[in-house]
Amino acid sequence: MTGHLSAKPPILVILAFLTLGSVLTMYPPAAAAASVDGVLKLMPVPASVTVRDGRFRVDENLTIVPPYTGDPKGVVTSRAFKAAARFMSRLAGRTGLFLKQDFLTAQTPSVEGGIRYAYARPGALLPNEDESYALTVAPDKIALDAKTDIGVLRGLETLLQLLSADETGYYFPCVDIADKPRFTWRGLLIDVGRHFHPVDVIKRNLDAMAAVKMNVFHWHLTEDQGFRVESKVFPKLHQLGSDGMFYTQAQIRDVIGYAAERGIRVMPEFDIPGHSTSWFVAYPEFSSAPGSYGIERKFGVFGPAFNPSDERIYPFFDAFLKEMSALFPDPYLHIGGDEVEGHQWEANPAIQAFKKKNGLADNGALQAYFNKRLLKILTKYGKKMVGWDEVFQPGLPNDIVIHSWRGPKALVEAALKGYQGILSNGYYIDLCQPAEAHYLNDPLPPDSPLDDRQKALILGGEATMWSELVTPETIDSRIWPRTAAIAERLWSPASVTNVDDMYRRLGFVSVELEELGLLHLKNPDMLLRRLAGDPRIEPLKVLAEAVEPLKNYQRHGQAAYTSLSPFTRFVDACAPESLAARAFRKNIDQFLAGKDPKLGRKIGATLALWKANHVLVLPLIAASPALREIEPLSLGLARACEVGLEALDRLMKGQIQPAAWAEEKGKILAEAAKPAAHAELAVLSAVTKLVEASAGPAK
Ligand code: ACM
Repeated sequence: MTGHLSAKPPILVILAFLTLGSVLTMYPPAAAAASVDGVLKLMPVPASVTVRDGRFRVDENLTIVPPYTGDPKGVVTSRAFKAAARFMSRLAGRTGLFLKQDFLTAQTPSVEGGIRYAYARPGALLPNEDESYALTVAPDKIALDAKTDIGVLRGLETLLQLLSADETGYYFPCVDIADKPRFTWRGLLIDVGRHFHPVDVIKRNLDAMAAVKMNVFHWHLTEDQGFRVESKVFPKLHQLGSDGMFYTQAQIRDVIGYAAERGIRVMPEFDIPGHSTSWFVAYPEFSSAPGSYGIERKFGVFGPAFNPSDERIYPFFDAFLKEMSALFPDPYLHIGGDEVEGHQWEANPAIQAFKKKNGLADNGALQAYFNKRLLKILTKYGKKMVGWDEVFQPGLPNDIVIHSWRGPKALVEAALKGYQGILSNGYYIDLCQPAEAHYLNDPLPPDSPLDDRQKALILGGEATMWSELVTPETIDSRIWPRTAAIAERLWSPASVTNVDDMYRRLGFVSVELEELGLLHLKNPDMLLRRLAGDPRIEPLKVLAEAVEPLKNYQRHGQAAYTSLSPFTRFVDACAPESLAARAFRKNIDQFLAGKDPKLGRKIGATLALWKANHVLVLPLIAASPALREIEPLSLGLARACEVGLEALDRLMKGQIQPAAWAEEKGKILAEAAKPAAHAELAVLSAVTKLVEASAGPAK
């Protein structure tokens, strides 16, 4: 941590949310920047921040005092109390300070100074619950006040992110923060169907969610590839549909409790009537085509679907959903409903006759019929129905929630008709897109056609971690840190859109997440060591920084991936977005704009490092058959960087390369651009820009 905050007298106002007009009357316009740009490392950016002069010194005498409510037991069992205890532990861990305060107890004496927090009431784990807080850091004391204890949790995370360092030691900068979320639904979906992710994976990701103020864990529990929840009513479901990889109900309750302690709701998803092959291993009779079923191993969209015309499935779902409604306390239950491919329905004469008899014109109408029957069941058990945007069909009452994945259009159309909605289109973190793409994807963009009443129906959004290509070893690196950018989009004011500053802060958050046990930064090294069979992996790390996995669904085209495939190869050790590659691309853009020689030399050093790396990678490849596939990547990087160095040299000297040179070198770059090892060079576009800039005009 460098001195990223030096209070600038008299007062630096950073404001992002309060009505701009009132602030402009209070402070000179120049001070009313709409962000924390370059100053604080808060993520998400609070609704309103005023940085003041002064620093609250953090030393071993720091205390935190819980509010005394008159009920000793009430204090020590409260959610805020436990969060305060975790706060002190994390602070000690981050600073190395031997804090003198004893473990917090109901009798923790009230002391002058230190951190004091208070709240009016325990918060409910419901949408639209108050999560606001006010945080004031003065040189001698810190006050955190909230309407609910959930607000206190959010404020404690902000305070930890404020921790700064200078030559004297650690401190909190003096600030006044008034914060509240823009959207009430800020979720992360984890697909545990395609790959199972044990409880410890889920818990550490819940901790990470809390650190960036996310509040809905969407647990995608059933898929073609796995049925992951214990059913005591229909035990064959998990016994036959999971390869033994499922959560017991005790584990489910444990996770729900863990999430609740962090102010996070847990919404289960049982994806029906499609995406349901694993159910039919136990109950083939409920499918729409005869035969026996095995757990699906491949990835894609598959035919098996429940038979809506079979009356037997409704008592089955009644009993199953009754059980699950009792297990999951959240008022919302997601029934999936996506990608019902319809072939089984088309091929089944009884279903076709049923459609005709009931005036169901097409498969959409048949699915709407099914959903209406389910809705009745869910309503009976006190649940609100959520479904992917395919469930948005005429005839459904508008107290269901539409979860948009195919495009933002469904969200708008649903809101226009009075339906609540959540957005995931644009938040598909499995596609290995840069954080920027997700960050600039707003559930309510400035050109939204919705009026204020309709806008209020847009509850928020969810990042979706579909798990075709991720395992417990790699999942953290596919979720973090990019999901923190989505968390900010959903929490912070719409005006917070500075991409460069988001990346600046993302770097800090990424490191801070490690204290919660997230493995996104250290597991890639472990994968590389395993691949190399050698602890000396520096050349592989250098290469990995210049490489990213193939994006969107391209990687699926590179091999016949199944749920049993290894996800331990070089590509799995490459981050979905290399922040080093991004920094390099930014440097090239900046250099080409100004030809700053100092920056040119820095770029030259990086190009030289990458060029020289290939000979260091070669012996590692020679020793490890599993690494052979990366040779074209490593060679391509070296060759591209050699070309880049030539281009840079000319640019630095103000000379122009002949057009024929650029044409010839273009072939080398084109060769290097070919995917290899299911990955691609993330720095090639920047090298290409250098080459193009250094060449004379094409003939
Ligand atoms: C989905 O991605 N099929 C919801």
